[in-house]
Amino acid sequence: MASRYHDVYDSWKRDPEGFWAVAAKAIDWVKPADKVFDETAGIYGRWFPGALCNTCHNAVDRHVENGRADQLALIHDSAMTGTVRKFTYAELQAEVTALAAVLVDQGVGQGDRVIIYMPMVAEAAFAMLACARIGAIHSVVFGGFAARELATRIDDATPKLIISASCGLEPGRTVAYKPLLDGAIDLARHKVERTIILKRPQLDCELVPGRDVDYAQGVAAAKAAGRKIDCVPVAATDPLYILYTSGTTGQPKGVVRDNGGHMVMLHWSMKNEFGIDPGEVFWAASDVGWVVGHSYIVYAPLLAGCTTVLFEGKPVGTPDAGTFWRVIAEHGVASLFTAPTAFRAIKKEDPRGEFVPKFDLSKFRTLFLAGERADPETIKWAERHLGVPVIDHWWQTETGAPISQNPVGLGILPVKYGSPCVPMPGYDVQVLDDAGHPVERGTLGNVVLKLPLPPGCLPTLWNADQRFRQAYLDEFPGYYKTADAGYIDDDGYLFIMARTDDIINVAGHRLSTGGMEEVLAEHPDVAECAVIGMADALKGQAPCGFVVLNSGVSRDVAEIEREIVALVRERIGPVAAFKIVVTIKRLPKTRSGKILRGTMQKIADREDWKMPATIDDPAVLDEISEALKARGIGV
Ligand code: COA
Ligand code: AMP
Repeated sequence: MASRYHDVYDSWKRDPEGFWAVAAKAIDWVKPADKVFDETAGIYGRWFPGALCNTCHNAVDRHVENGRADQLALIHDSAMTGTVRKFTYAELQAEVTALAAVLVDQGVGQGDRVIIYMPMVAEAAFAMLACARIGAIHSVVFGGFAARELATRIDDATPKLIISASCGLEPGRTVAYKPLLDGAIDLARHKVERTIILKRPQLDCELVPGRDVDYAQGVAAAKAAGRKIDCVPVAATDPLYILYTSGTTGQPKGVVRDNGGHMVMLHWSMKNEFGIDPGEVFWAASDVGWVVGHSYIVYAPLLAGCTTVLFEGKPVGTPDAGTFWRVIAEHGVASLFTAPTAFRAIKKEDPRGEFVPKFDLSKFRTLFLAGERADPETIKWAERHLGVPVIDHWWQTETGAPISQNPVGLGILPVKYGSPCVPMPGYDVQVLDDAGHPVERGTLGNVVLKLPLPPGCLPTLWNADQRFRQAYLDEFPGYYKTADAGYIDDDGYLFIMARTDDIINVAGHRLSTGGMEEVLAEHPDVAECAVIGMADALKGQAPCGFVVLNSGVSRDVAEIEREIVALVRERIGPVAAFKIVVTIKRLPKTRSGKILRGTMQKIADREDWKMPATIDDPAVLDEISEALKARGIGV
């Protein structure tokens, strides 16, 4: 059957407001919008101004009211503990309402911020929805971040309360969250007065009297008292959440998501982009700490009346490379969404796909990959062994939903390996040269999105309008800068090749090399440093640090390097996956003092490189090659 993509995309282009007005009909509004889009409001305009709504109502209550009360809403499958917990929509409503009552009792109200620092447990999703229910703004912080990163977010979001847990579970170790949380609260300038702590059976923790509330006790008491907390109507333009993402410095950017546009876009995407119907089982194997978790573990599947799977485990080693297929078979998953790195990990453990036929994958229809460039070999491996379409799609924390993809629901287009396919309605994607002029088809350049951004995209950064303008809008007036480099081919297919800033992508996790350099520079023996992203067969990229030591340092270099690795783990967290430091005599620089990180990365990756014309001293690059060779890198 021919794809409807071109017709649908053209209809959006002809009448964007009419297009989103129709999509908005799928959402329950307390009060409809005064207009679909107000170009005079906000920084580049606002979607659905004047409307009142509640995201929790649309994700939970309305399904209970409309015949899905007994349908499964959420399945928590923990490969770490070997347990499965299932919640119908009615049970989800009960959990969320009870937790909302605890929040209200602790003084949390509309517009207050709540940080959620939790492992992959069902309660993390309940916490997000409970905030949405009372109009509080949640900010989920990924569990792999260290106390200092959490403290930075506490100071920026100034939360009234933090919801956390006693521990997370990683293969081979139990991550004690409580010391990290307490450490962050101590470090932060903003004083957090209340926390709600979920005690997990794997590790107990002490509660601070007068500050920490026991999650289970609070929720049980609210249930026993039959507490009823209604969904609070909020403005469509009010923030639903803040999600911090890496910027070019150690100060993360607080991406703001509104309520109304977000619901409209996510709901539209489930049917039209992902081809999923209400009642089907959708699994995004990511983490609630990332945007994929926000959009496609929690909000989109629930808004669409699906069953969502929240998985605690890894694609390999928990216990083996067949775990993903076990989850798909056991819960009747129709579509899986994960990062290519997960498939590279599976392919490495089980190159012949021998685990796959051991499971009944008859309900499985589509695999979606995003978060990093999907290499053709990995896509082909997945196609061969799973026998389903493998859909690469491209988006960012800032957009909240795919910018480009092969739209399964509208009809699949021919696949081009290495391309996340075509722009979705809402996105006019263009490629510009550095001076802001459009480039020819097939020519690499800056990938930009013509303003206004569609519903669901960030309206601004939290408390940082100026940073929003400067980071995204100023360089190419009239466009949003994605900071990705790529090209569009003659058929209109996009190819996303690299970042144009210092962000690297490690196992689908977005990290700032600038942030890592700030930590390296803190080491007392380090005079100068640079961090690059090296190609990594499993994780896509891996950070590699170069340090120049202060003159006169006579300590053991290997020991200093170990201290630096430990410092990054302590300051940023294990998620940085920072394992390699190379000590060198000097950094390669241009005559004006700019560090030649791009050339260093090419040397490390054994790519062809040209001697930069502006280099101060070409001999430094030989020194870098030698130092890397001595470590077995770039040889
Ligand atoms: N809490 C605490 N620590 C965490 C964590 C969490 N939530 N998540 C990861 N970490 C730790 C890991 O244990 C690891 O620690 P280690 O250095 O002691 O081994 C470190 O952070 C690096 O994690 P990661 O880069 O994820 O590597 P890994 O070896 O644990 O797993 C993959 C590699 C490929 C299996 C895993 O990254 C994966 O499944 N990725 C694909 C799915 C995904 O999450 N994508 C993200 C967005 S879609
Ligand atoms: P994040 O905000 O963590 O989702 O990271 C967004 C960045 O990841 C993008 O700007 C890209 O650099 C990269 N990315 C995400 N998906 C893809 C994809 N399908 N192909 C290439 N790069 C991708």
